[in-house]
Amino acid sequence: MARVLTGIQSTGTPHLGNVLGAIRPAIDLAKNPENESFLFIADLHSLTQIKDGAQLRKNTHAVASAWLACGLDADRTVFYRQSDVPEVTELAWYLSCYFPYQRMTLAHSFKEKSDRLKDVNAGLFSYPMLMAADILLYDAHFVPVGKDQLQHLEMTRSVAQRINHQFDPTHARELLVVPEPLTRENVMLVPGTDGEKMSKSKANTLDIFADPKALKKAINKQIVTDATPLEDPKDPDSSVVYELYALLSSEAEAAEMAAKLRAGGYGWGHAKKALLEAIVDGFHIERERFAHYMAHLEEVEAVLQKGAEQARETAGQTLARVRAEMGY
Ligand code: TRP
Repeated sequence: MARVLTGIQSTGTPHLGNVLGAIRPAIDLAKNPENESFLFIADLHSLTQIKDGAQLRKNTHAVASAWLACGLDADRTVFYRQSDVPEVTELAWYLSCYFPYQRMTLAHSFKEKSDRLKDVNAGLFSYPMLMAADILLYDAHFVPVGKDQLQHLEMTRSVAQRINHQFDPTHARELLVVPEPLTRENVMLVPGTDGEKMSKSKANTLDIFADPKALKKAINKQIVTDATPLEDPKDPDSSVVYELYALLSSEAEAAEMAAKLRAGGYGWGHAKKALLEAIVDGFHIERERFAHYMAHLEEVEAVLQKGAEQARETAGQTLARVRAEMGY
């Protein structure tokens, strides 16, 4: 049985791009009975950027509610909050002492973030070692990640190999499991309201859990359409409205909208209204469940607490093994 583990950033309510591109595929992967799956909310990593405790908690609750709303089965996935298993910070320290400073300075994501963010703290720099600890603490075999995380996975493998080598140069016995990244080939590309990839840092996101009024406003204001008169034919293929609609509806529905746009007499306003409906109706189960969880955070907490208990069992065993080898 392979153990599949992944961490989720908790920088805010997941948007449409997260739901289609990450949450749904991860939930599908977790359904495979051949895998044992661990999924956690990386709220200790969030501290590198968010210093408001109430905000941290709120983000965690929104992320957890969104995953549960999208169908994550917490009976089959160990679903927990990173900070509920503080063992990870101890392992991160050991790993840091086995990883060359020079190699840390080559991390792309640190360079990218330190160019962009105002608060460039030491935690941001050591982020990859905490991520390595997230993975190695649980003896994970496979780690589904986006391409932007591959270097972090490489660092994780490298630090695990260094430690394994130190404790048994013959490699007859491995102290830590060296994980493999899992990248999906056909990741669904979800355009944002500006046509670029949908991403929180670009302010081009749509929140499928927002109330319909707010969602309508986002669609109308954020998606810029040209001033082609209502009667004139329009090109669906150069339109984000159509692209998003097509991602959310059946082939027949998408073909119908494309035909109406090409025929003329059908405006961008009509298309935007159809997009709004596709989101509100298409995600109505998720929206209802999300609202339920957000109004019953004690249920969300209970799920996370159960996950933390399960996670701590494995974490304690790995850490005991590592401590003993290190001489503590
Ligand atoms: N760094 C990951 C991201 O930005 C989130 C993450 C933290 C993670 N710890 C992890 C992913 C461990 C996989 C495994 O998306």
